[in-house]
Amino acid sequence: LNYDVNRDRRYILQVLFNGLSRLEYRGYDSAGIAIDDSNFSPLVFRQEGNIESLVKSVYQEVGETELNLGECFGTHAGIAHTRWATHGEPAPRNSHPQTSGPGNEFLVVHNGVITNYEVLKETLLRHGFTFESETDTEVIPKLAKFVYDKANEAAGGQVVTFSQVVLEVMRHLEGAYALIFKSLHYPNELIACKRGSPLLLGVKELTENKENSSAFEDNKFLSKDGKPRELFLSSDANAVVEHTKKVLVIEDGEVVHLKDGGVSILKYENDMGEHGASLSRAFSVRRALSVLEMEVEQINKGNYEHYMQKEIHEQPESLTTTMRGRLIHRGSNKSKSVLLGGLKDHLKTIRRSRRILFIGCGTSYNAALAARPILEELSGVPVTMEIASDLLDREGPIYREDTAVFVSQSGETADTLLALQYALDNGALCVGITNTVGSAIARNTHCGVHINAGAEIGVASTKAYTSQIVVMVMLALAIGGDTISNQARREAIIDGLFDLPNKVREVLKLDQEMKDLAKQLIAEQSLLVFGRGYNYATALEGALKVKEVALMHSEGMLAGEMKHGPLALVDENLPIAVVATRDACFSKQQSVIQQLNARRGRLIVMCSKGDAASVCPNESCRVIEVPQVEDCLQPVINVVPLQLLAYHLTVLRGHNVDQPRNLAKSVTTQ
Ligand code: G6P
Repeated sequence: LNYDVNRDRRYILQVLFNGLSRLEYRGYDSAGIAIDDSNFSPLVFRQEGNIESLVKSVYQEVGETELNLGECFGTHAGIAHTRWATHGEPAPRNSHPQTSGPGNEFLVVHNGVITNYEVLKETLLRHGFTFESETDTEVIPKLAKFVYDKANEAAGGQVVTFSQVVLEVMRHLEGAYALIFKSLHYPNELIACKRGSPLLLGVKELTENKENSSAFEDNKFLSKDGKPRELFLSSDANAVVEHTKKVLVIEDGEVVHLKDGGVSILKYENDMGEHGASLSRAFSVRRALSVLEMEVEQINKGNYEHYMQKEIHEQPESLTTTMRGRLIHRGSNKSKSVLLGGLKDHLKTIRRSRRILFIGCGTSYNAALAARPILEELSGVPVTMEIASDLLDREGPIYREDTAVFVSQSGETADTLLALQYALDNGALCVGITNTVGSAIARNTHCGVHINAGAEIGVASTKAYTSQIVVMVMLALAIGGDTISNQARREAIIDGLFDLPNKVREVLKLDQEMKDLAKQLIAEQSLLVFGRGYNYATALEGALKVKEVALMHSEGMLAGEMKHGPLALVDENLPIAVVATRDACFSKQQSVIQQLNARRGRLIVMCSKGDAASVCPNESCRVIEVPQVEDCLQPVINVVPLQLLAYHLTVLRGHNVDQPRNLAKSVTTQ
C-alpha cells in the first residue's frame, strides 16, 4: 500500500515486481499483479513463467505512458503473487490474483491450501457462479462477492465494511492460508488474514517524524500530521527489508486492515477456522513493532552469479555466526562449554526424556541424521529419526516423556508443522531448530535454537545444512553435560567447532577441482554416493543436491547395505562416490572400496588429506582430499565438495541453479 502523492503507478508496480523477485524462490511457475487504473478499477495481469515474463507482459499490455498517467493521490493498494502450483497447472487462469469474476469486484492472493474448496465450489456453482481456474483459491473471491451481495441486500442498501465481508468468508474456509483481499468496492483498502501460513506487515515512514513509529496502536498508526507512509504485507521478510526493518509478524486469527494509510488489527478469541467465530468476539490488537535483524546485502547475490554459489562460499561466515556467543569458557579452570540460551530452562527435561525424536523434511532431515550419532553418544538417550510426512502417515507413537526436535530452515514447512501439532497434542516437549525468527515452528515449539545462518535464498539448502549440524552438535554437548568421563571428548569437539570455519575455508579451495569433476560427469545419467556412520547423511545430502539442482539421478546409500542389493548396479560405467574420511568406520569403508573395485566400479573417493595413496585401489580412481576434523564435525566438511559438484554440474548442464524445476524453497502445503 502506498501513500505518497508524488509517486506514480509505475513506482507501485516496481515495488510489487521487486517484492515478487525477492519471493520468487518460494514459487516461480507463474505470477500475477493487480493495481488500480485512474478510476480505481483494478487492473489484473497474470502470466505463466517467472517474474520477468510478468513484467514484460504488463508493460506490453499497458505501455509506459499509460502507467505514468495519473498520479496516485492519497493511497493506492496493490497486490501481487508468485505461485508454486498445487491445484491446477501453471497457466494465467490459475495464477493469482484470483478474481470474483468480470469487473474484479474481489481479488485474492493466497499462500496455502483450502481443503474444503470443493464443497464451497459446489455451493457457489448452485448460486450461479462460474469458475475459470482449477485452483482451490478461486472459491475465496467468489465467496467474498456472494457474501457482499447478500449482506448488502439484507442491510437494505446500507453498505457492509470490507472487514465484515472478509470475516464472513474466513468463517467458511478450512485449511491453511495467508490471504490478501483487494476490492473494487473498497479502493485503497486491503485486508489480510492468516491461518497456518506466514504473513508479515512492514511499516515505512516516509518522513523523519518518529512519532508513532515504534509502537503500534489500533487505528493510530497514521502519524498525527498525516505524513505519508508505505505499508507492506508479505509472506516473508525478504520482500520487505529493502523498504523497512520495522515489522509485525501477524498471528493466526488476526485480520489486518489497511485503509487510507492506516492499519488496524483485529484478533479473534476462538480459532477462525471454526464455524461460529463472529465479529463480536473480536478485539483490537496493540503490539510493538519488531526490528528485523537482516541486512539487504544478505539477500543480494554480491559478486556471485547465483545464490547457491554465494551461500556455499559464505559458509565460513555463516558458521561463525551460528556459533557466536554460544561457545564459552566457564568456571575457575576455564573449561570449555556450550550455552544455548533458548534451551537452558529445558535441558533437565530433555536429559530425562525416554527418547529424542528428530523430525524434519529434505535437507533438514539429513542434517539431523548427521548429528544423531553424537547425540546418542553424549546424551545416552535413544535418538530416532522421523521424516515429518511419514510420521503423520503412520501416526507413529509419541509420548509425554519424549522430546521432539523439529528441524526446519524456513520454520514454515507444512509437513513439519503438522508433525509439530501432532507431537504437541501427544504431550511431548517440542524443541525447534530453525533459521527464521518469528516462523511458525519458532513460535509454536516450547523452546529452541535459531541457527542464525542468515537468509538462504537458493532453493537447494547449503549453508543452512551446515549450520543446522553445528547447532545439533552444540545441542548434544549441552544435553550431555560436563562429566569427567567425557571431558576430553567435549573439549576436542569444542576446539574443533572453533576451528571449523577455517577448515571450511580450506575445503572451499576444491572449487576448481569439483568443476573439473563436474565436466567429467556432465553427461552421466546417474551417480551413487555411499557413506556410513557420521557420513551416511553426507551421502544422502550430496545425492539430494545433485538430484534437485543438476536434475541428474543420484542416490545416497548406506555403505553397509551395499552388498545387500546396490552392488548389482556396479559396472565400469556407473560413477560411484564413496565417502571414506578417517573415523571409526574407515576400515569398513576401505573394504567397500575394495569390493567395488573388484567389480570394476568407476570410483570417486573422498578421503582425509594424505590418505589418497592408501584408499585408492587403481589409477583411474578419482580422489577428493579434504581436511580432517573431529569425527562428528566431518559431515560439515565433507558435504562442501558435493555442494560444489552439484552447483557446477547444474551450471554446465544449463539448468536453473537457484530455482530448480518443480521445486520450492518453502513448501507450505501438504
Ligand atoms: C523443500 C526444499 C528443501 C528443504 C525442505 C525442508 O522441499 O526444497 O530444500 O530441505 O523443503 O525445508 P525446511 O524449510 O523445513 O528446512
